[in-house]
Amino acid sequence: MDSKIKTLNEKLELAKLGGGQARIDKQHQKKKLTARERVLYLLDEGSFEEIGALVTHRTKDFGMENQKFYGDGVVTGYGTVDGRLVYVFAQDFTVFGGSLSETHAEKICKIMDMAVNVGAPIIGLNDSGGARIQEGVRSLGGYADIFYRNVQASGVIPQISAIMGPCAGGAVYSPAMTDFTIMVQDTSYMFVTGPNVVKTVTNEEVTSEELGGASVHSTKSGVAHKTSANDVECLEDVKKLLSYLPQSNREFPEDLDVELNDEIREGLADIVPENPNKPYDMHQVIEGVIDTDSFYEIHKDHAENIIVGFARLGGKSIGVVANQPMFLAGVLDVNSSKKAARFVRFCDCFNIPLLVFEDVPGFLPGTDQEWNGIIVHGAKLLYAFSEATVPRVTVITRKAYGGAYDVMNSKHIGADMNFAWPNAEIAVMGAKGAAEIIFKREISSADDPDAKWKEKEAEYADLFANPYSAAERGYIDEVILPKHTRRKLIKAFSMLENKEVSRPKRKHGNIPL
Ligand code: HXC
Repeated sequence: MDSKIKTLNEKLELAKLGGGQARIDKQHQKKKLTARERVLYLLDEGSFEEIGALVTHRTKDFGMENQKFYGDGVVTGYGTVDGRLVYVFAQDFTVFGGSLSETHAEKICKIMDMAVNVGAPIIGLNDSGGARIQEGVRSLGGYADIFYRNVQASGVIPQISAIMGPCAGGAVYSPAMTDFTIMVQDTSYMFVTGPNVVKTVTNEEVTSEELGGASVHSTKSGVAHKTSANDVECLEDVKKLLSYLPQSNREFPEDLDVELNDEIREGLADIVPENPNKPYDMHQVIEGVIDTDSFYEIHKDHAENIIVGFARLGGKSIGVVANQPMFLAGVLDVNSSKKAARFVRFCDCFNIPLLVFEDVPGFLPGTDQEWNGIIVHGAKLLYAFSEATVPRVTVITRKAYGGAYDVMNSKHIGADMNFAWPNAEIAVMGAKGAAEIIFKREISSADDPDAKWKEKEAEYADLFANPYSAAERGYIDEVILPKHTRRKLIKAFSMLENKEVSRPKRKHGNIPL
């Protein structure tokens, strides 16, 4: 028996070494942790249980039968994060560059299946040179097996991808189909075709970083939901994100214990400027309402005219969607609509109530927007809110104009409670533009057209630049003082806790993609 135990221990020790010490050192020189170090950092101490440590590939071509490494380039298993079960796979760059073989894919699929059956999040730590070139189509099949499972798991368990090294070619489509992608600054990149192919096809010279680095994907493309400075920060980000989420769509996020007092927040009245055309930072409103330091922003640097993120309100996890008057006056455009729609749908999948702060002057006009399909993309947000059945509450902090009023979680599309601050303006459009259109003849024939325009603008503003016509019709449930916002929201979400909505039977809707 002793010799058998020795053999096992030797094999497990070899598995821990991955592609060997020299390659581990190389990984460290690049300021990257190894796959195993990442898993151990992510999970609660002593909680990791590895599955498939002794798996090896089955390839015999290109002399591969003489190059076998236990684990075959991916560490898989389960453990806990803050005491909650999660499944994890971490690609091991020290073994064939973390490339994906048939067996590597099988290991990932095995834990994905378990995660779905048990109902717990799956976390993928990606660091891979892509398809195992020596395996050809078997590797492509392995990717497709994973993609298929990503889709089956979508909306059932949270799926989080950390990109901690290369992620190129078709490999990018697994993270793209998960719920969140977090990239490490400087050491990770994602692209469908790399710089060499780009140069050949388009003659464009571009570096990996410029083409698909963390900065590009967290600002321009929106592929990354978050950027972390290094591996450790990235793993901390994953843990923090998990804290707002339930284990699966069968559960609710965990509540934190928070002591509640009267919850008056006087400072909220001082945030929105007197001049309705002056910007202000909606973060101040969010921070002023939610539990202290609980905001976890998603897509912070992408489409900054809308803010989305998780927060805690009276200890409960909520999803926040808010127009941001600091950027483009908070208009809705293509990118902000897509960003918010995806977030709304995530929250709805996973029983996370939605809180909307609204200050929106409308949709962004112009050929750029129209030619890029603002009609279809704006419709995504409208669709996402309309289909969401989680508790939904809106607070209009200032403007709610035009179609954007409808879109931003209005009563008409199923919001449960709609509040407005006394300075709210709810109308088809701003008073100036409205007066110009409906009093065009009177203004142009007046002795002093400018004065007439101002008079008519004031008349329109008087009638519509307030929350009262909407409140009279019940479109607004209550006009509230800013300082009471937190109290009202805590009560509203608590009242809505057991909300249930049934929908007509159908296979699935057809969101305008
Ligand atoms: C097999 C690979 C590999 C791969 C890297 N390696 N990529 N082995 N298949 N795809 C091996 C290398 O041979 C090397 O082995 C080790 O991993 C480290 O690679 P290096 O090149 O030394 O590292 P580095 O300089 O950091 O460069 C990393 C890299 C580069 C940029 C990822 O290795 C690279 O370009 N690899 C090929 C990428 C690629 O073309 N992949 C296929 C894409 S197509 P040793 O023994 O020296 O340690 C694809 C289709 C997916 O993925 C389709 C899904 C639908």
